[in-house]
Amino acid sequence: MTRLQSGARFLPSVALALFVAGAVLGSVILPSCSKPNSNAFTGATTPVGAGSIFPHPANFQDPKLHGIYAIANGTAGCAVCHGANYQGSWTKVSCYSCHRLYPHPAGYQNPLIHGADYLANNASCATLCHGSDLEGGDSGVACASCHPLYPHRNGWSNVYSHGITTVELGGPQNCATTCHGTNFKGGNSMVSCFECHAIYPHAEGWVSGAQHGAYVQANGFGPCSTTCHGSFLEGGLSGVSCYACHPNGFGNLKKR
Ligand code: HEC
Ligand code: HEC
Ligand code: HEC
Ligand code: HEC
Ligand code: HEC
Repeated sequence: MTRLQSGARFLPSVALALFVAGAVLGSVILPSCSKPNSNAFTGATTPVGAGSIFPHPANFQDPKLHGIYAIANGTAGCAVCHGANYQGSWTKVSCYSCHRLYPHPAGYQNPLIHGADYLANNASCATLCHGSDLEGGDSGVACASCHPLYPHRNGWSNVYSHGITTVELGGPQNCATTCHGTNFKGGNSMVSCFECHAIYPHAEGWVSGAQHGAYVQANGFGPCSTTCHGSFLEGGLSGVSCYACHPNGFGNLKKR
């Protein structure tokens, strides 16, 4: 909103005077239609514009009023009075005094910015805005619209949750994000897959005998006879049975 554009939409002077009275003198009402106190507007843009609503209706602090209005009309009109940085400007009412994270700064999709905010204080996103389930709320912006697997559902560390999901998705490639790192060693979340299962995700070329075969010879069958390949190596949750490729078993190698 430029000064030029907004200049075309001056408030009627009565509203303007009331507005100045409210902003500057608090409860003191100015005599009718006096010239606005010049201190109030020095340096400020005209207090109307696209997406603005003023004088605010009663109870405008109710999110279902000012919030829904801002969602429908955008916040550019709010910035005219509350400041380009939304920190209050001459209104002295900063959006951030009530919700630390909104309006979001530019580039908020950057995982290092919105992700860090979430990790520092999960509850701050589970609002009317994104919904207590983070599935969109009034803003309609679900976290899952960008990353379907995050925030993880409760009990995610259980194999029947994250494990089966990984298998259903055809492998761990969806986890190779900034979150867990392209090498699965932790990324920004610092949660490495290898913390809990040293050999999964499997190294590249794992299918070759030189890799998984040598590993089993050195470490025994213990690390394979998990929920993943099953206690009898018959497939488990992964559905990959050792006997599919080793129909005759493993010779002298003992299953430990
Ligand atoms: C014309 C200037 C102006 C515009 C435009 C404006 N505000 Fe305000 N706002 C104020 C002033 C001044 C106050 C201080 C209290 C009052 O007068 O209502 C305020 C107060 C508020 C409050 C606190 C209300 C309370 O009762 O505590 C909220 C919330 C708010 N504004 C939200 C918004 C939103 C959202 C927008 C954009 C959709 C917006 N404002 C646009 C001037 C403006
Ligand atoms: C007097 C306190 C107050 C001020 C000032 C305020 N808000 Fe809010 N706003 C709230 C509260 C409370 C919520 C609900 C947050 C929650 O669900 O935890 C909210 C929610 C919202 C929502 C989401 C509403 C919804 O239903 O999803 C938007 C959008 C919003 N505010 C915009 C603004 C903007 C823009 C400003 C500054 C111009 C502003 N607010 C200033 C109190 C305020
Ligand atoms: C507009 C898209 C978008 C939306 C909506 C979104 N995110 Fe993200 N977020 C991303 C992207 C992109 C990444 C990086 C993921 C990757 O590397 O594949 C990310 C990563 C993250 C991370 C990890 C940050 C890190 O340090 O690696 C967290 C935490 C996160 N988002 C939380 C949330 C939450 C909570 C919500 C919902 C309130 C949400 N995100 C909504 C795009 C989005
Ligand atoms: C996709 C096919 C495939 C699957 C599935 C497979 N292997 Fe192998 N494995 C091979 C190949 C190929 C070799 C190298 C040729 C060989 O020695 O038979 C090998 C070699 C081995 C060796 C070294 C050779 C030996 O027999 O002593 C061991 C031990 C071994 N695999 C164990 C396993 C275990 C345990 C599983 C299940 C967790 C498994 N393999 C699943 C293909 C497979
Ligand atoms: C907090 C611990 C923990 C972390 C971190 C973890 N897992 Fe797991 N995962 C497990 C456990 C426990 C099992 C079951 C292993 C067993 O039976 O020995 C498992 C099993 C699996 C399985 C096998 C499921 C099946 O159906 O065969 C997959 C796939 C898997 N995890 C993927 C991953 C990926 C990818 C990551 C990293 C992004 C990861 N896990 C991080 C605990 C974890």
